[in-house]
Amino acid sequence: MKAWWKESVVYQIYPRSFMDSNGDGIGDLQGIISKLDYLQSLGIDVIWLSPVYKSPNDDNGYDISDYQGIMDEFGTMGDWENLLEEVHNRGMKLIMDLVVNHSSDEHPWFVKARKSKDNPYRDYFIWRPGKDGKEPSNWYSNFGGSAWEYDEGTDEYYLHLFSKKQPDLNWRNPQLREEVYAMMRWWLDKGIDGFRMDVINFISKPETFEDGEPKPGKKYASGSKIYRNGPHIHDYLQEMNAKTLSKYDVMTVGEMPGVTPELAQMYTAEERKELNMVFQFEHMGLDNGPDGKWDLKPLNLQDLKQNLTKWQKALEHKGWNSLYFNNHDQPRSVSRFGNDKEYRVESAKMLATLLHMMKGTPYVYQGEELGMTNIRFNSIQEYRDIEIINFYREQKADGVPEEKIMESIYAKGRDNSRTPMQWDASRHAGFTTGEPWIGVNPNYRDINAEQAIADEDSVYHYYRRLIQLRKSYDVIVYGEYDLVDPEHPEIFSYKRTMKGQTLLVICNFYGKENKFEWPNEMNLNDARLLISNYAEQEGEELQRVSLKPYEARVYLLVH
Ligand code: NOJ
Repeated sequence: MKAWWKESVVYQIYPRSFMDSNGDGIGDLQGIISKLDYLQSLGIDVIWLSPVYKSPNDDNGYDISDYQGIMDEFGTMGDWENLLEEVHNRGMKLIMDLVVNHSSDEHPWFVKARKSKDNPYRDYFIWRPGKDGKEPSNWYSNFGGSAWEYDEGTDEYYLHLFSKKQPDLNWRNPQLREEVYAMMRWWLDKGIDGFRMDVINFISKPETFEDGEPKPGKKYASGSKIYRNGPHIHDYLQEMNAKTLSKYDVMTVGEMPGVTPELAQMYTAEERKELNMVFQFEHMGLDNGPDGKWDLKPLNLQDLKQNLTKWQKALEHKGWNSLYFNNHDQPRSVSRFGNDKEYRVESAKMLATLLHMMKGTPYVYQGEELGMTNIRFNSIQEYRDIEIINFYREQKADGVPEEKIMESIYAKGRDNSRTPMQWDASRHAGFTTGEPWIGVNPNYRDINAEQAIADEDSVYHYYRRLIQLRKSYDVIVYGEYDLVDPEHPEIFSYKRTMKGQTLLVICNFYGKENKFEWPNEMNLNDARLLISNYAEQEGEELQRVSLKPYEARVYLLVH
């Protein structure tokens, strides 16, 4: 079925780092409003706003103490209403981040819950007595240490899959669920256009908490097999849909670490009435070693081809894909998969081509459209992310050399994508007139929006053209996907087909020339170049094309 959210391109704003309007060094809502024309010119349809709710900021707003209030640093509810209106005035839509796997420990629910075992809010969270004087299970938290925190006042532990200031909500409690749905309807009634749902496949916890198998030499083990995609997850999502989403014309995307294509079909099949699409993580883990994200391993292109193709095919007729290489939790894709030095512009454009021509809804993360790169701060003191800081501390305690720790942080740390948006070549990249809460990437004098807008060949204008193409050719949105030349070790090529139209996408994934054989079944004479990151060459033999470093081309064949 056709749908507006299938035809849209989403732009993610991480408010803290986007634009500061009042000189306190922290991005805010008025700052965002001042940049809406920029987003409109880029051609995006939907803005996803990372959390702007009241929060003690243990995890930059992903720890919420009031779901219906705006964080003071970002502005007021009036500013937010102003933002929604200005977004809608420009024909764009706004989706909000829904973080209901956990709240903040400063949320009134938790403040009351920890008062006593018989407090009516106690059961909004997950409490267990200790086991043999230790934690109820040996699970680790995603931000390091145990996933259980001891509460002295009531002599029990509460579960927190993230930081100890992010207690997990108990979705088994029907009253909690009703409160969440009421809160969602409150935002929907304000006129928002949907939700991005934080780790939403974690909300259904097991009844009992079994120990996992720790890796050799480790104290804690992962409980993720148990708490991901838990026993009642589909019931909760269907209930949520029936009580909130189904009553509005909105879009949803569920963030789901550990989701498989089979499960994603279930989460996104239209007739099941759960979600529109999910963020899967498999392709983000292809450069992880056996010890997880900090364990660095080069990406093997064959793995990426196979993986993305598996997802494209699995959700081809059932469900829908989201397409992303970047967000506020991932390093910058041009540094990670491309070449952020000699071929920064070429490789950023190649990666964009590869992603935007696939079947699904593309997501652009702020600064991606400028080809912004990873950061290398000199010392751990300059980092702000709780995950990075905890990782550093634990590694140090384990005696890992500083250099090795920093190499992991440089490659994978979340602050890579959280440095301020680079607007122009003035002080602090035009992000703030004050002192930014996190350092600006020193390359802002060369890489910034003002420069990119002035340069027709910039990454920015290339994104603009890709987005325009999606609006001009249905085959980009709805065409069937098939991998081309699966064995080619250095080129990622695929086609999209629909009613007499074929799109051929050819991406040289590496910084050297590569030959590509034109597929036999495709008539060369029908081919017209729609977009490329190099100038078209007159009289070139297409039968066996020589692709320049990181060259990407998209041909349209009408037959
Ligand atoms: C996923 C979010 O994207 C991330 O930034 C956050 O730290 C965790 N969920 C916990 O909310």
